Amino acid sequence: MLKKKNEYVVAVVGATGAVGSEMIATLERRNFPVGKLRLFASERSEGKELEFHGKAVKVEVLKEDVFAGIDIALFSAGGERSKTFAPHAARAGCVVIDNSAQWRMDPEVPLVVPEVNPHDLKWHKGIIANPNCSTIQMVVVLKPLHDAAKIKRVVVTTFQSVSGTGMKAMEELATQTAEVLNMKPVTLKVYPHQIAFNCLPQIDVFLPNGYTKEEMKMINETTKIMGDDTIRVTATTVRVPVFRCHSESLNIETEKEIAPNEVREVLAGAPGIVVFDAPEKSVYPLAIDVAGKDDTYVGRIRKDESIDCGINMWIVADNLLKGAALNAVQIAEKLVEMA
Ligand code: A2P
Repeated sequence: MLKKKNEYVVAVVGATGAVGSEMIATLERRNFPVGKLRLFASERSEGKELEFHGKAVKVEVLKEDVFAGIDIALFSAGGERSKTFAPHAARAGCVVIDNSAQWRMDPEVPLVVPEVNPHDLKWHKGIIANPNCSTIQMVVVLKPLHDAAKIKRVVVTTFQSVSGTGMKAMEELATQTAEVLNMKPVTLKVYPHQIAFNCLPQIDVFLPNGYTKEEMKMINETTKIMGDDTIRVTATTVRVPVFRCHSESLNIETEKEIAPNEVREVLAGAPGIVVFDAPEKSVYPLAIDVAGKDDTYVGRIRKDESIDCGINMWIVADNLLKGAALNAVQIAEKLVEMA
């Protein structure tokens, strides 16, 4: 458990990455009570300096024995690093908030979205998992609807940006776009196919059931976070040539009928959500507008006319913020509140 202090020693593991750099910026922007910030990455980044509140902080090499004296560590350096180093951090008395998939489905590890299940933070044993980016924005919206009309089933299709894969994937989209426009052969490094001017119906590896790992993460993580395994979820996850923000099409079947206007009302009153829905003026959430924002934006709210109790909607959130760095910092803020 986190002890009450005025200021905390905070570490960002994977500080030079796409999510790590947003974690540093989010801690600064939200004025998290950081007494000292420690930054960790691989040997490649040793000695590199990153700025925090106007001061340069040197990047250190991640090792097993670096965690003594650190109160909170935000991890986003990939599953392997989380698997190896998070238990060392927890043993040293540090609370780990881990952005990888490594610990998410471990029954000993809470999987938390502060708007949905902050109560699960009470039983952590040193490691808390930050959910998958696509799952986070979906459950922020599902929770108030579940409370209002009890969700039976969700069919989700995602349109996920390349920043979810990391810095190298963002470079790949930029490079390939230039190559295509200059009529040059396309270089493939990160994705199995060209991502520029294309959509890839594969995120992560395929599993024996024909789903990708990303799809099964959305399915399994949703019931764990919502604390209700009666909710049925099916997912198709697609990588699209967008730099930042994940968009999702949601089809939700509820037990109780709920009209689109009521959905708008319920969502507008729920934390972390902005209803942005005026189709007559072509107003709906767009990735390019939501980039850099904290909230999950919801639009295209309409009745699913093919069933008795169904709603369709389009949701967009910044995958590096609510989908990763912001959710992790909000977990840390809750821990401070509860200390
Ligand atoms: P580095 O920049 O030194 O490679 P992204 O998700 O954008 O690809 O970023 C991954 C993050 O994880 C980076 O900060 C990267 O550091 C870090 N990382 C990758 N491998 C290791 C490792 N073996 N030890 C520590 N940090 C690592």
